[in-house]
Amino acid sequence: METKPIISIVGTGYVGLTSAAVLANAGFKVFAVDIDPKKIDIIKSGKSHFFEGGLDEFVSKAVETGNLLPTISFKESIPESNIVFSCVGTPDNPDGSPNLEYIYSAAESIAKNAKDGIVVVQKSTVPVGTGRKLMAHIAKVSPDLKFSYVSNPEFLREGSALFDTLNMDRVVVGSDDKEALEKVVSVFTAVNDFAQDIDYSEFSDYRLNNVSKITPFSKTPFSERVFKMGLESAELVKVSANAFLALKISFANSIAKLAEKADADIVEVMNGVGSDFRIGRAFLYAGLGWGGGCFPKDVSGLISVAEEYGVPLPIMDAAVEENQSMVDHVVEKIRKSNGGISKMKVAVLGLSFKPGTSDVRKSQAIKLANKLHEKGAIVKAFDPQAMEEAKEDLNRNVELSGSISECVNCSDAIVVATDWNEFKEHNWKSEKKNVNGNIFVDARNCLKASEIQDAGFEYMGIGR
Ligand code: UGA
Repeated sequence: METKPIISIVGTGYVGLTSAAVLANAGFKVFAVDIDPKKIDIIKSGKSHFFEGGLDEFVSKAVETGNLLPTISFKESIPESNIVFSCVGTPDNPDGSPNLEYIYSAAESIAKNAKDGIVVVQKSTVPVGTGRKLMAHIAKVSPDLKFSYVSNPEFLREGSALFDTLNMDRVVVGSDDKEALEKVVSVFTAVNDFAQDIDYSEFSDYRLNNVSKITPFSKTPFSERVFKMGLESAELVKVSANAFLALKISFANSIAKLAEKADADIVEVMNGVGSDFRIGRAFLYAGLGWGGGCFPKDVSGLISVAEEYGVPLPIMDAAVEENQSMVDHVVEKIRKSNGGISKMKVAVLGLSFKPGTSDVRKSQAIKLANKLHEKGAIVKAFDPQAMEEAKEDLNRNVELSGSISECVNCSDAIVVATDWNEFKEHNWKSEKKNVNGNIFVDARNCLKASEIQDAGFEYMGIGR
């Protein structure tokens, strides 16, 4: 019987820890390696160090069985490993390009500790051309090491990270080394086999349950979802996919502004547009715009790497500009309906960049709260998960509230900035008596206009 490869995952963020927990539950021995001892201690205790639906249950099971071995030591993990996935972060450089410092230092630590035959898999999103440079770097650090390098971009969405890792809509692998490609594919084939028997209703996290109800399970046989290609192609698939999704949203937002002027309804428009199978309805939801740790960085990273190759991408510059304009668009809506913003009491509901996560990186909701405050409004904010995380990015005078009711109490205007279920399910009718004004901006088009109007508010969406 073929023995399972031993795996190390370097970096325990959304991609790294989710992959580690899934692989360990699928029966692989997995070292989860991170340079931050605090994160490792939390994982050792059987928990995730960030909020992600269902992940705690997976981590605790994996730690209990002994398959998941959290460690800060490269010396303890890498020499034992046949395959190592690099999942470290790539923060922004001031010019918008990704900072590859951690990618290089992880590659160096891997190179120094690896044994011959190791397959180094890059899961972090890197600019096209990086893999080739990293291969040269590893060879320079450990000239005698026999290794293969595979690009394996990750497509999971935060908030449904676990579901996406179990139900891969595609596996993209790129390398010069065909044998290494097959080794990586066989790991994912094992995950796919394992995932067939999962009963999502057994999970206590309602968000994971919900994701499994609304995301289609792929009907395509797994082998047809595997795309083997050249190294540079795989690197370019990832950023292009994210850039295209960002482009779709910015397109919907541009048309939303036109719809507002022309008395059309963007939801109706995009229902019609998106029903064309060549276009698709997903990511045509107009709203406050895109944020998070991926789209903003990947789009600016694509623009900057294209510049390096001498290829201008004005289409992506326009998408960024459109996205930036959405915060002002909402501020302007509030200003107009109130006849001014100074001293106005505004309740901002939602701070994370999207629902189902406590991640506030490049959150449009936080930008909105800060912008309103800078324009002179008295801003209170609430988020079901991201209060702690938001503190650092919010202007000092934006007050954090402990609940929806506390946040909207005595406010002149309410803005739903992140489409959390908590806001959709709130009883706005009974809440109205505690609210001073009647301006209600649904900046994610996620509530029913008629319900908000029946509650006594003046409902305003985006593009409707
Ligand atoms: C995104 C991609 O969707 C994943 O496939 C990819 O793996 C990931 O980046 C990554 O590179 O790691 P994520 O950042 O978790 O995932 O978030 P999305 O669900 O894509 O949402 C991004 C932003 O777009 C959010 O702010 C969301 O509110 C906004 N959005 C999304 C819209 O405004 N309208 C839409 O129709 C869809």
